[in-house]
Amino acid sequence: MALRVAIFADETGWHTRQLQAALRARGAQGRCVDLAECRIDTGVSWHGLVIPGFGRELPDAAIVRGIAGGSFEQVTRRLGLLHALRELGVPVYNDARAIERSVDKAMTSQLLHAAGVPTPPTWCCESAAQARRLVMAEGAAGRALVLKPLFGSQGKGLRLVGSVDGEPQALPALDAGYGCLAYLQRFIPPLADPGFDWRVLVVGGRAIAAMRRVSRHWVHNVAQGARGEPAPLCPALAALAEDAARALGMDYAGVDILPAAAPTPLLVIEVNGVAAWHGLQKVTPFNIARALVHDLLDRRLARERPLAETACRA
Ligand SMILES: Nc1ncnc2c1ncn2[C@@H]1O[C@H](COP(=O)(O)OP(=O)(O)O)[C@@H](O)[C@H]1O
Ligand SMILES: [Mg+2]
Repeated sequence: MALRVAIFADETGWHTRQLQAALRARGAQGRCVDLAECRIDTGVSWHGLVIPGFGRELPDAAIVRGIAGGSFEQVTRRLGLLHALRELGVPVYNDARAIERSVDKAMTSQLLHAAGVPTPPTWCCESAAQARRLVMAEGAAGRALVLKPLFGSQGKGLRLVGSVDGEPQALPALDAGYGCLAYLQRFIPPLADPGFDWRVLVVGGRAIAAMRRVSRHWVHNVAQGARGEPAPLCPALAALAEDAARALGMDYAGVDILPAAAPTPLLVIEVNGVAAWHGLQKVTPFNIARALVHDLLDRRLARERPLAETACRA
């Protein structure tokens, strides 16, 4: 019987089709499932999980492509389902723990720092008074800070505070959009005009593709209008991205890296655990979905399942 892989996605489209085709090419089957539609029913099976399309069975593996936003309880429950699958022995790619580490920007920054991976100085606190004091002190030293939503993505909600182009910029109210806390990171000024950063994709511990994201605006996300350009994967860039993915325990990761002035010319600013790769695929000569699927089947599944079982299902 073909391996059955659950692709957890809140919306289907290019990425899920790419994954399904790559799985098909390996003789496996990828079925898209919305985590919001999975449920717990202890009357149905020994394990108590109901995953639409899998009957009473569990998938052989799962790929997490998207988790819809929702209430604190809903998101906790959806992540709980991924934790449960891991505890039941189903390889989840990326694991819920890795997703939690990367979704929470403060946890990412702290783990990178503790692992010795170069990242800009970063602060996160719940006290608005403390945050204001920090912004004033940094501003007085002529520096700007980036205020980011803790669970932000696609460059949304980023603001410069402190000393911005020589003018003082105060911290805004932290409630709406910032979850009543301040995640602040020292602003690393662009070294060129237009400025850029790199997105490096790490799969199974190895950096496999990179692009430069170039834009006049200092927020270089493709979703904010940056242009993706092919970029050579030089050894220093590859090694740094691999270190960052390892520090967060990721199977695969999209690592954002900024160029900076000496003494640390490369700084990791973010590690994406549910990374999109549409932009990167446009400038990459090989198929990225296939690289992900090969890593899942040949490394993760082979490691966690007895070889004989995998072979007889193939
Ligand atoms: N500390 C910083 N200094 C300079 N630019 C930054 C800094 N942090 C983020 N940026 C810019 O903003 C973009 C988005 O920030 P990031 O932390 O990756 O959040 P998101 O999850 O929204 O992508 C980065 O790709 C980079 O171009
Ligand atoms: Mg980013």
